Amino acid sequence: METTAHITRLVLPGLTNRHGSLFGGVALSLMDEAAGIVSTRVSRGPCVTAHIQSVDFEEPIWEGEAISVHAALIGVGRTSMRIKVETWAECLEEGTRRRSTAAEFVMVAIDKVGKPRPVPAEAQERLDAQADGNAQGEAEG
Ligand SMILES: CC(C)(COP(=O)(O)OP(=O)(O)OC[C@H]1O[C@@H](n2cnc3c(N)ncnc32)[C@H](O)[C@@H]1OP(=O)(O)O)[C@@H](O)C(=O)NCCC(=O)NCCS
Repeated sequence: METTAHITRLVLPGLTNRHGSLFGGVALSLMDEAAGIVSTRVSRGPCVTAHIQSVDFEEPIWEGEAISVHAALIGVGRTSMRIKVETWAECLEEGTRRRSTAAEFVMVAIDKVGKPRPVPAEAQERLDAQADGNAQGEAEG
């Protein structure tokens, strides 16, 4: 089971404000999309966004740069999933990257009538296995 998602887009003129940088709403939309992909992968079904923790826009992303969105599962509840989402600005010509935004999303798995449904146990098992792998890697230096 994959617990991450990555989206990359070129920042074109229609996506920018009058200062030539990416609209915050576009960044938020891509972040929500990436969180939605992770939660749907992990829960094997539809999900909704229940909560977005405060979002700080740390760096502008300029027209002509790329925005990369990285989402990763960091917690599993009974019906909810916590997903860390970061956006990065990439200057493609220079090959440099800057973190632009980070936020935590809470996504809830829902059934056919929109009521919360349990997240499969496999999701927590997968997170535990990743934590064990990280701890082992740190111990081995
Ligand atoms: C999200 C939603 C399904 C929750 O329904 P609900 O009947 O209130 O469900 P519950 O109170 O049983 O909560 C279900 C889970 O969501 C979590 N949750 C609900 N609202 C939350 C919030 N504001 N912040 C963090 N977690 C929240 C609960 O902690 C619970 O987690 P757990 O099962 O892992 O313990 C419902 O509020 C909803 O449909 N909201 C609209 C979603 C939406 O339209 N999003 C935008 C478009 S995708």
